[in-house]
Amino acid sequence: MKRMALAVALGLGLAAPGHAQELVVTPDPQGPGETLLPQGEVEWGYYCLRCHESPEPLRAQIAAASADRTGLETRRWLGVFLVRHHAPTPEIAVALAAWLAPDPE
Ligand code: HEC
Repeated sequence: MKRMALAVALGLGLAAPGHAQELVVTPDPQGPGETLLPQGEVEWGYYCLRCHESPEPLRAQIAAASADRTGLETRRWLGVFLVRHHAPTPEIAVALAAWLAPDPE
């Protein structure tokens, strides 16, 4: 249990833009790891949900406002916006921007 909490803390703390997009814990260190939630979703629940009922209208708004931007430009704009708009740290702003405006699969 201790190990799992640590893995979660590391996953949240060290995620860099463009790298791991998912929160992965490895309950069994021999095992392949288990994806729990996409990174950004936990932050959303903690920092955004109390005012925004659902991310979907925001995703639509972001897409409409970003027709002329690349995915990277959209995430950069969104990250800067979120630093001023309730994201407590730049890392959390980046995680939320990646979650709200991912590149199409
Ligand atoms: C205290 C309430 C509150 C909190 C907390 C909050 N928001 Fe907002 N947010 C608003 C309001 C009000 C608006 C403007 C009206 C709207 O577009 O819904 C807004 C607008 C937005 C927009 C639209 C920006 C645009 O120009 O298109 C985005 C994206 C957004 N919020 C994301 C977030 C995210 C992500 C979080 C969590 C870090 C968050 N908000 C937390 C109240 C809040």
